[in-house]
Amino acid sequence: MADMNFTGPEPDLQDLLAARPPLQMHAQDGLCLEGVPLNAIADAHGTPVWVYGAATMRARFAALRDAFAAEGVPMHIHYAVKANDHLAILNLFREQGAGADVVSIGEFLRATKAGVAAQNIVYSGVGKSASELETALGAGIGQINVESAEEVEMISGIAMRLCVVANIALRMNPDVDAGTHAKITTGLAENKFGIAAEDIPALYARAAKLPGVKAVGIAMHIGSQILSTEPYRLAYEKGAEMIRSLREAGQSVEVLDLGGGLGIGYQDEPGLNPSAFAAVVRQVTDGLGVKLMMEPGRYLVGPAGLLVGSVILQKQAGKRFLVLDAAMNELMRPAMYEAWHGILPVGAAAYQNPTTPADVVGPICESADIFAKDRQLPDLQPGARIALLDAGAYGAVMSSAYNARPRAAAVLVDAGGFQLITKRQEIAALWEDEILPRT
Ligand SMILES: Cc1ncc(COP(=O)(O)O)c(C=O)c1O
Repeated sequence: MADMNFTGPEPDLQDLLAARPPLQMHAQDGLCLEGVPLNAIADAHGTPVWVYGAATMRARFAALRDAFAAEGVPMHIHYAVKANDHLAILNLFREQGAGADVVSIGEFLRATKAGVAAQNIVYSGVGKSASELETALGAGIGQINVESAEEVEMISGIAMRLCVVANIALRMNPDVDAGTHAKITTGLAENKFGIAAEDIPALYARAAKLPGVKAVGIAMHIGSQILSTEPYRLAYEKGAEMIRSLREAGQSVEVLDLGGGLGIGYQDEPGLNPSAFAAVVRQVTDGLGVKLMMEPGRYLVGPAGLLVGSVILQKQAGKRFLVLDAAMNELMRPAMYEAWHGILPVGAAAYQNPTTPADVVGPICESADIFAKDRQLPDLQPGARIALLDAGAYGAVMSSAYNARPRAAAVLVDAGGFQLITKRQEIAALWEDEILPRT
């Protein structure tokens, strides 16, 4: 199965373990996350189950924050809620000092429920409805990243009615190829996102005159799972150039929002290095005199999450299929993006046995319900547990109840213990909101 942007050799079980310090193999307890045996979690809460490591998330936040500090660049980090919107996780990043980046009123209300102040929330997205904007503005949202001229007018009208002033940044589409999967590229002229550079000056001038809105700056987001700093450099240079020319035209520009997109090493390819990223940001924005913001999601949570499943059966049908109790309704990324996820057995004994190729699949009635093709894995009998790695971002948030499969439980590992943070959905909850028509 092709990875989004990496075609190197597949790492083996030992490579996967060695590249992920939060994971340890314990001779008796088997695979552990941050010292906590996954078997203990699965015994307590069943499978499939999402498991997130709090220390890993905190460490990744600190690495990003420290990379900017080392460059002397003050950076306001707004966690992109869409990557993993669990209240426990939003709360964790709030405690680290992060604001939130949201793309719907549901995400906005989730973030505020987790204690993020409305003032520390940025609202992005190509289609915000009037009622969503009204709620966000009424609650005192900090900034709205606007994606069209139509939206500027809409916000002005709503803000006037509410007697508030909306801080808006114009999302500029820099027409830069982020070098990532087509489905997660957002900064090309052909993509639906943002405003073309040539349209920004007139729209900025219009916004500066409109009542109810204050044009505060420029926002960008060129895509996700970006592994090179070069597309960022190109995009941010265009953003900096735009800010200079807006100022020459007499506009006030206070903010540059750099978006998210920092990629991680799913297949042990080097992820985007925060220090290299911070250095590019410093070089491009040096002397620009703006408040810098960014909106990372995947980088902060991706490597901190696992999806733990159990083998239902090992089917021989010309080739070996490992059929799991986890499926594409939990982790969509392989079906949606042909994404590669590492897979590790949870039991220690499995690591002593020879590996042979197997297709790792879920039980859903779709040929796309496949996590890995021809993956080298040991013999795994029914009941054996496996962990799908790097599933913390764009995992649970994209899950569904397809095939009437209740949503999986989620557990947070912290300080050597673990806690349930989402209960497994009851089967009856699948239809509790449904109404049978009267006959
Ligand atoms: C506007 C915006 N900001 C931030 C992000 C977060 O991206 P990532 O999780 O790749 O950091 C996204 C996701 O695509 C986005 O659309």
